[in-house]
This record gives sequence, structure tokens and C-alpha cells, in this order.
Amino acid sequence: MAAPGIRRVGVVGLGAMGAGIAQLAIEAGYETIGREVTEELGTKARDRIAHFLQRKVDKEQITAEVRESALSSLTLTTDLGDFADCDLIVEAIVEDLGPKLELFAELERIVRADTILATNTSALSVTEIAAATSTPERVVGMHFFNPAPLMPLVEIVRAELSSDGAVDTAFAVGETLGKRPIRCHDTPGFVVNRVLIPLLNDCLRVLDEARVSPEDLDTAMTAGAGWPMGPCTLVDLVGIDVHVHASEALYEKLREPRMAPPARIVAMKNAGLLGRKSGRGFYSYG
Ligand code: 3HC
Repeated sequence: MAAPGIRRVGVVGLGAMGAGIAQLAIEAGYETIGREVTEELGTKARDRIAHFLQRKVDKEQITAEVRESALSSLTLTTDLGDFADCDLIVEAIVEDLGPKLELFAELERIVRADTILATNTSALSVTEIAAATSTPERVVGMHFFNPAPLMPLVEIVRAELSSDGAVDTAFAVGETLGKRPIRCHDTPGFVVNRVLIPLLNDCLRVLDEARVSPEDLDTAMTAGAGWPMGPCTLVDLVGIDVHVHASEALYEKLREPRMAPPARIVAMKNAGLLGRKSGRGFYSYG
């Protein structure tokens, strides 16, 4: 069932997070439009979604008809103008404030006055992003976790000027996507990353301090602390560039030394070892 007032959902940016969010939206029955900068990137995202839905068919979690119907509700575009009729837009583009500000200002020119604009930012300020518009009351954070289709949480972030209506609607949409939404205010890292980023950085510092291998560190945290995946595997999944960027953004805001990315991981980022997406990080991927 759709959330009240929400029929058509737009997703801007169809990387790992955006594609995952679009997958959730089409599975929940929303008419969904996804935007990438090139047709090739859009097609790549649709192929990724089609693949994961096929795995669900193979495992008899959904029928082939459900997969086809979900895929048929996804439209791809490279033109933001096609978002004019969206009720909710979720932004999942690059984690840089400049491009996000530009995008939100442009979206405001395109969409209806009652369209809700959500950002999936993980470490930037939703309030600062909302300030790019003249209607900040319609802007909220909807922070999904990687991999978005599998992780149950979505943080519904209230920025300084978000309206109750926008927050409630985003929360209701989160529920219809099958998620467990929580409400929080716009503070650096919100809830999970405020805790997880310094924790992961501590884990990575232990690599050098305790002279432990990535494999043994991962075993330590899965077998000794009950984590579902070890920190090195997790950072490879999230993306080493994404983790470094989030650490730097939180360090800039909070000035807590534990937030700063350890030198080892910054060096990995600079060398192009970005984890799963580049084929190599702490581990190699075929
Ligand atoms: N998108 C869609 N579907 C996916 C997918 C993806 N990215 N990845 C896997 N799947 C599907 C696959 O079809 C897979 O089945 P298959 O292997 O048979 O094809 C199916 O989901 C199940 O996958 P797994 O067998 O790998 O599932 P697990 O039961 O092992 O659980 C997990 C995987 C949920 C990722 C679990 O390991 C976990 O909870 N890990 C921790 C992840 C975590 O902490 N994420 C948060 C990161 S921090 C973050 O995102 C914040 C950000 O701001 C930086």
C-alpha cells in the first residue's frame, strides 16, 4: 500500500544506493522514475535491479510476474524535467555539498509546491541542503543503509525547518518500503554513522596497532562481537572513498580525533583501492 499522497517517486542518482532505493520503490508498487547523467549508467542500474529481482524469483521469494510488474513501473531518464509530476524525490547523488545544493535548487524550479524532497546524505547537513531552496519545510533526510534493499533501517531526519507533514510522510513511505524507520534530528552523522564511523575507524587503527590481518580483524568482530560482517568487509562494501568522505565530514563538524579517517585508509583511497566497486580494497573481488 502506498503512503497517503504519494504515487510517483523520483530517485536522482542510481549508484549502489540510488538503485537500491529505486528497487525498494518499485517493489512497493510506486511508479518510479530514476535519473542518471547518462543512458548507459541508467541502464546499468536497471540491469542491477533486474538481477537482484531475478535472484528473488530464483529463490521463490517473488513470482516472475511480480518481477516484471515491478520492472515495468521503473522509468529511466537523464532529464530532471521529467520529475515534474513526482510526489516524493529521493536524492542519492555524489556526497558533495555543492552538487547537492545545485540539484535541490533546480528540483525546486521543476516540481510542484507540495512535492517532498528527501536527501539520502549520510554525513552532510540536511539543513544546509534544504537552505538551497526557498521552501525548506518540504526537505527531509531519508538515510538508507547499504545495501538498501537488505538493511531494515531508514533514518528519517528532521532538518531545522522541516514541516511535520514532510517528516510524517517520509516516515510513512519508509514503512511502505518495508523498512523500520526512526525519527531523528539533523546532527552530524544522525544516529548510526555518529556511532559507526568512529567505531570503524577504531577497528581500522587496530589493524596497525595490534598488527592483525584484515581477515583476523574481521573474524574477531564477527566471532567475538557478533557483527554480521567484519569491519574490513563492511568498509569494502560501503566503499573506501565513501567511508573516508563520511569520516572527514564528521571530523570537520565534531573535531573528535576518532572521527578522522586513519592514514592507511586515506592512502588506499588515493591509490584507487575503493573496495568492492573497484574490484580491490582490503580484499580482491573477481
Ligand atoms: N542490492 C539488492 N539485493 C542484494 C544486494 C544489493 N546490494 N546484495 C545482495 N542482495 C541480495 C542477493 O540477491 C542475495 O542473494 P544471492 O547471493 O543468493 O543472490 C540476497 O540479497 C541475500 O544476500 P546475502 O546472502 O549476502 O545476505 P545475508 O543474509 O548474508 O546478509 C547483509 C547480508 C544484510 C548485508 C548482512 O551481511 C549485514 O547486515 N551486513 C552489515 C551491513 C551494514 O552494516 N550496513 C551498513 C553500512 S553503513 C551505511 O550504509 C551508512 C552509510 O551512510 C555509509
